[in-house]
Amino acid sequence: MLKQNPFEVIESIENIKNIILVASGKGGVGKSTVSTNLSVALAREGHAVGLLDADLYGPSIPLSLGLDGQYPEVRKVGDKDIMFPLINFGVKVMSLGFLMSKQDAVIWRGPMVSKALTQLIEDTDWGDLDYLVVDLPPGTGDISITLAQKLPKSKAIIVITPQKMATADGRRAANMFQKEGIDIEVLGVVENMSWFTPEKHPDEKYYLFGIGGGESLAKETNTELLAQIPLVSDVCNLGDTGQTVFASTSNIIVEAFEKLAQNIHEKHALNALK
Ligand SMILES: Nc1ncnc2c1ncn2[C@@H]1O[C@H](COP(=O)(O)OP(=O)(O)OP(=O)(O)O)[C@@H](O)[C@H]1O
Ligand SMILES: [Mg+2]
Repeated sequence: MLKQNPFEVIESIENIKNIILVASGKGGVGKSTVSTNLSVALAREGHAVGLLDADLYGPSIPLSLGLDGQYPEVRKVGDKDIMFPLINFGVKVMSLGFLMSKQDAVIWRGPMVSKALTQLIEDTDWGDLDYLVVDLPPGTGDISITLAQKLPKSKAIIVITPQKMATADGRRAANMFQKEGIDIEVLGVVENMSWFTPEKHPDEKYYLFGIGGGESLAKETNTELLAQIPLVSDVCNLGDTGQTVFASTSNIIVEAFEKLAQNIHEKHALNALK
């Protein structure tokens, strides 16, 4: 059932303790990589985790979690068709990518996107979750604003790459959440592709994309640098073949995601520490 008021708060998520919106000011910085691997890292720590792919224009989560081409189960509950998320790596996953052909996405306009997203959240049986991680599309468009308004108990993390120039993009995303009327708390910044360490020289760090962007955005937004994720060559290939960083031959990327998950849980979890 579609709600008439696009800004109505969604109530069917009351059994979800923490919602984390993963955002960025611009594309390609690693939001989906961070969303999927943060979700899996939290699940490996024993938390009940869901992952919502809200990048309706370019859903990439089905492929990166090895669920491409699968369909969620639909069951009648009362007079409603309810979808049950697909599960892989211990994470409940829902994406519009499960429900539409790839060509559909490009012709979508704002109001359709807002309705589809509402339906995707409302008509999914997430069950009890400690965390729902939401992979947003890049920028500060309709989808991000709709979600921030519909899921007011969410908190946001901003993903950027380390060059100083990237802080302006990150700041735009942070400003969107902190705007009056939206008021989503920004937990902090994840700096992705922070440095490259060759496998044969584990003590060396090469700062290919500059240095300090994450730190300075955290300072500017009065938040925290939650994690620095190194650039690791097999991440791309793992993502394209439905595997997570936990299958990487590089320990440093595994540790970076474990630390990110622990940091978020220990410092920022609502209700989960009881
Ligand atoms: N730490 C990393 N090391 C190596 N490759 C990475 C890393 N993080 C992301 N990548 C690669 O960079 C590319 C872009 O990452 P990703 O798709 O996660 O970005 P995004 O911000 O979600 O992009 P979009 O804005 O298009 O949704 C992918 O090919 C991914 O595998
Ligand atoms: Mg993405």
